[in-house]
This record gives sequence, C-alpha cells and structure tokens, in this order.
Amino acid sequence: KKPIILDCDPGVDDAFAIMLANSSNGLDIRAVTAVSGNVGIEHTSRNAIRLCSVLNMDIRVGIGASMPLIIEPRFAGHMHGDNGLGGLVLPEADLVFDSMKAWDIIYDEAVKLEGELEIVAVGPLTNVAIALLKYRDLKGFIKRITMMGGSVTAGNHSQYGEFNTWADPHAAEIVFQSGISITMFGLNATTQCALPFDDLRRLGEKDSIVSELILGIYDYVKSTRRGAGSRITLHDAIAVGYLIDERIADTRSAFVSCEAAGKHTHGMTIVDFEMREGKSPNAEVAMVAYPEIFGKLLEEMVGFYMMS
Ligand code: BDR
Ligand code: CA
Repeated sequence: KKPIILDCDPGVDDAFAIMLANSSNGLDIRAVTAVSGNVGIEHTSRNAIRLCSVLNMDIRVGIGASMPLIIEPRFAGHMHGDNGLGGLVLPEADLVFDSMKAWDIIYDEAVKLEGELEIVAVGPLTNVAIALLKYRDLKGFIKRITMMGGSVTAGNHSQYGEFNTWADPHAAEIVFQSGISITMFGLNATTQCALPFDDLRRLGEKDSIVSELILGIYDYVKSTRRGAGSRITLHDAIAVGYLIDERIADTRSAFVSCEAAGKHTHGMTIVDFEMREGKSPNAEVAMVAYPEIFGKLLEEMVGFYMMS
C-alpha cells in the first residue's frame, strides 16, 4: 500500500478526495491535514475530522495554517458554501485532533516512512511549504507530491489564477522549487473529467454510508452552480484518482513556477515545456485526463461504501 498524507481544505471536492482515497485498498492514509483555503481553518479542519469520522477512518487528523504565508486570506465560500460543505452539517466527530500541527505530522510520518511517503495536496500549499521551511531535510523523505492546483491554460479565480495557487502563490512556488518530484493536476486536466449532475445524483442514490453526503452535495451544487453547464468538476478527487490508477491522465514534463508578483497574473502557473530558461523539469503536468477512468473509480468508491 502506498502511504499518503492528504492535505486539504474541505471543500466539496475535497470531501470526494477523502472519500475516494479511503475507499482504495492501494492507499494507506497516514493522516488528513487541513489548511485554510476554500473557507477558514475552523471550518476546513472541522469538516475534515467529521468526514473522517463519518467514513469510520481511524487516522491522524491535523490542523494546519490559518492563513497564507504572506498575503491576506482569500476564500472560495461562494463555491463551497459558508461552512465549506454547502451548508451540510455532519455529525460530531468521534476522532480527536492530533496534538501535532499539520507540518509536524508531515515531517513525523515522512521520517518514520524513510522516504516512502507521498503527499497529495488539494488545497493551497501553505502547510506543505511550512513543513519544507521548518524542516530543511524533509525533501529527502518525500517520494512525490501530487497536487491539484494551477493550470496550463486559464484560471478560475482570475484569468490565470487557479484557486489553490492564487490563494497562496508563495507557498506554491516553494513547493515547485523544492526539488521534490511533483505531479500537477491543473484545471486544464481536471475539467476534462467534469461530471454531469445526474451522474453525481446516481452515485448518491445507491444506498451507502456516503449517500446522504453525496446527495447533500448534489443538492447544493445543482442549486448554486447552474451556470456551469450542469456539470461539476471534482478537481481534488481526480488528483487522488491518479494515486489509485495512473492511467487517469497522461502527463508531460515541464518546468513550472508560480507567479506571486504579477498584477494580472497573481497565482498563475507558468508551465515551460520547452525549458526555454534552461532549467530542468521540476514537474509532471497532467495534460489529458480520462473521464471514463475517473467514473469507474467513483463507481468502485460507492461500491466500497455500500459494503462497509
Ligand atoms: C480547487 O480550488 C478549490 O475551490 C477546490 O477545492 C479545488 O481544490 C479548484 O480550483
Ligand atoms: Ca481543495
């Protein structure tokens, strides 16, 4: 089993990322760590621990950064509802938060696993950047970081800014230049796996321990995202999907950096495939993503929760 830490800001698609990761027998989730992002850390951490409890996960859940490294917090509550889960209120958690902060958990697990740990980061990269700044030897202990963020094409919070890189571009840049091998799932790839609302509803209608959650999310997105062509992109779950089945996307090597100073390009990922600045590639960038594979993973996920 691949040991992973899932760093997230739930977030409706983050909720799917947790559900999907937990359903795979190929992954060993060592911890779920929360970061400020879609909504404030009080919400993302509460959502994370309650989601893990609902899914009967017996793992470490850590609280991370309450704001980006340098800039003021920027949220996306208009996409995820004020509480981050479209107003859905989950039952109180049975789990308790780990006594270590997110970045300390990352280091602790990375050292314990002697270089085998993979990080899946699906929120702003603040926690991962803090871990790298605090522990200078950490990079030698991380096998790979798969991240949802950035874009080869356009952004979603500004013309070029995708939310996760736009919310903390300095953290993203630290991660890109860390020397750790990175797989980037940007909007150009995730949006290729946009899911029709009806498919989401069908997943929720199967009687499982996640049906209430899925139908709650379905109701929320259906009523709030009418302009999106009756589809939802579960960005974060697609990045998790890659850890389960790498056939979900074709990737291409590039040198990626994140713009933190630009007036119109704040949070933009500059993806150089031709190595024009003479750099070596620092990331594998998802280019073509396969919705059939993602759909199959979601079906299998629901199947897992029907039996558990
Ligand atoms: C990313 O931003 C957040 O709103 C989602 O959870 C996802 O991680 C998509 O741009
Ligand atoms: Ca997210």
